[in-house]
Amino acid sequence: MARRIQIAPSILSARFDRLGEQVREAVEAGADLFHIDVMDGHFVPNLTMGPAIVRSIRPLTDVPFDAHLMVTRPQDFVKAFAEAGVDDLTVHVESDHDVAATVQAIRDVGVSPGLVLNPATPFQAAVPYLKDVDLLLVMTVHPGFAGQAFRQDVVPKIRAARAYIDREGLPVQLQVDGGIKVDTAPIVGEAGADILVSGSGIFPDRVAENLQAIREAAERAAAAPPLGQPSKEDL
Ligand code: DX5
Ligand code: ZN
Repeated sequence: MARRIQIAPSILSARFDRLGEQVREAVEAGADLFHIDVMDGHFVPNLTMGPAIVRSIRPLTDVPFDAHLMVTRPQDFVKAFAEAGVDDLTVHVESDHDVAATVQAIRDVGVSPGLVLNPATPFQAAVPYLKDVDLLLVMTVHPGFAGQAFRQDVVPKIRAARAYIDREGLPVQLQVDGGIKVDTAPIVGEAGADILVSGSGIFPDRVAENLQAIREAAERAAAAPPLGQPSKEDL
């Protein structure tokens, strides 16, 4: 059955000297949400952006903003990002915090909470919190930089998350992030992802073509029958 897959361009790969224009290009191309990579130079070895950037692009579009907090103490930034206008905030289970308390704090400020798992973290680490979040983000690169290669070894975790969410009937969207381009989109589409983040696969040039090609590739793979089962054409 055809499944609608959402595409979340990561503005980290946009040209910052014309960020507003790049956001508008992605809106016109049909971006479902904007992924905002927040890095603190401590949880990951890179520094990116904070609430000021969110505030400055917020008036450009109604497309939801999805902030991915790669920071040591995410609980310290919930209020600032909520006030800047994000729609969801995802926090790593590996950060230094009481995960349940941070998730509740995000909910309390009217933002959708999500959890993130690094490639080395097993799916089981997310299970105790899944009933309380709206989003689960499975990283397909080690966080820190755009433009890294997709990690195939994470695919079984995406499948495990998909199976668990479906079996338990949880209202949790499954997101993947890292190395998603037109060639890797089918892999995660077939594995059951609902939302694909892509930075260097979409920005800075040919934004509309890239975004549409990634969506089509993922949706085609998601609609294909599992290996070993006959397709309609075979019958
Ligand atoms: C990695 C970030 C990703 C990254 C995606 O630390 O969380 O969102 O910007 O960029 P690509 O798609 O280029 O891997
Ligand atoms: Zn990210």
